[in-house]
Amino acid sequence: MLTAQLDQARQLLPEDVFRYYAGGAGEQLSLAEAEDAWRVVRLRPRVLRDVSRLSTATTLLGTPLAAPVVVAPSAAHGLAHPDGEVATAKGTAAAGSLLVLSMRSSRALEDVPAGPWWFQSYVVKDRSLTLDRVHRAAAAGASAIVLTGDVPWLGARHGATRLQLTGPADPGEVQDPSAGLEMIAELGATGLPVVVKGVLRGDDALACLDAGAAGVVVSNHGGRQLDRALPTTRALPEVVAAVAGRAPVLVDGGVRSGLDVLCALALGADAVLLGRPVLWALAAGGADGVEQCLRAITDDLAHVMGLAGAASLAEVGPDLIA
Ligand SMILES: Cc1cc2nc3c(=O)[nH]c(=O)nc-3n(C[C@H](O)[C@H](O)[C@H](O)COP(=O)(O)O)c2cc1C
Repeated sequence: MLTAQLDQARQLLPEDVFRYYAGGAGEQLSLAEAEDAWRVVRLRPRVLRDVSRLSTATTLLGTPLAAPVVVAPSAAHGLAHPDGEVATAKGTAAAGSLLVLSMRSSRALEDVPAGPWWFQSYVVKDRSLTLDRVHRAAAAGASAIVLTGDVPWLGARHGATRLQLTGPADPGEVQDPSAGLEMIAELGATGLPVVVKGVLRGDDALACLDAGAAGVVVSNHGGRQLDRALPTTRALPEVVAAVAGRAPVLVDGGVRSGLDVLCALALGADAVLLGRPVLWALAAGGADGVEQCLRAITDDLAHVMGLAGAASLAEVGPDLIA
């Protein structure tokens, strides 16, 4: 399913849009390593466990989910489909998942919600724009804020940039490189939990939690920021050990199958985010495509959980790692 949607998207999308979605930064080494890094993990399956009834259900910061798989924030869905994030939100809700809506969305945030959602924020030079946006998101029903911390400025991207594709931004909307840990409390003034995205080190995860974060996302931004940043598969165990159960740890980057999800959970993640696969799904089939993509990965997760001898997520733990 996921590969078919990628092939369809490659055919349907204008070449510059495809390259904007697919590309990474620098020599694209972090991008190139992301998917393979999950394939290095080896598992210790259990035998003769009753897996006749499988459940992938979970709860993330109070939101019940069909599976620990959520939609990563990504900019400008209008480049993939005329309905943009409205279609993404519909498909995500239909699959029982959660959408992390990018601050760089094509559609106004108030128009998007169809189910549970979180709002992703950057810190932009005009702080009042940042704060206005997160308060609007809270008023529109977002249940958490995701503060992306790995973009003091854009990485050296390949191909067209978003701004070349969507037109120039207001100068106040440019990333503010002076943003620090104090932004966690500032965004927390919405009353919503703040999850920091882009964490690759245990010490950073602890600093974020100490500054009030309610969770972290282990991410190298899909290889689009610092090239040679380590694969998230490798960063995850250090972050999980540092966080030590104090808060949820999410991970993204190169997750493409139920097996990848199983490996991430066994390494200690509470959930994964899917970036590019959702964009391909949106381009290939709109809301239905997004629903199919999320259902396919959930079904695949259930299938491999059974093969590993785990009937529920409570039975997916570090003992599964060889
Ligand atoms: C086209 C594109 C746009 C993105 N835009 C954002 C964004 O606006 N905010 C953000 O926090 N991350 C953004 N990301 C990063 C994703 O949230 C996520 O970290 C990454 O795509 C995960 O890797 P994957 O694509 O291999 O699944 C973007 C990624 C892509 C591919």
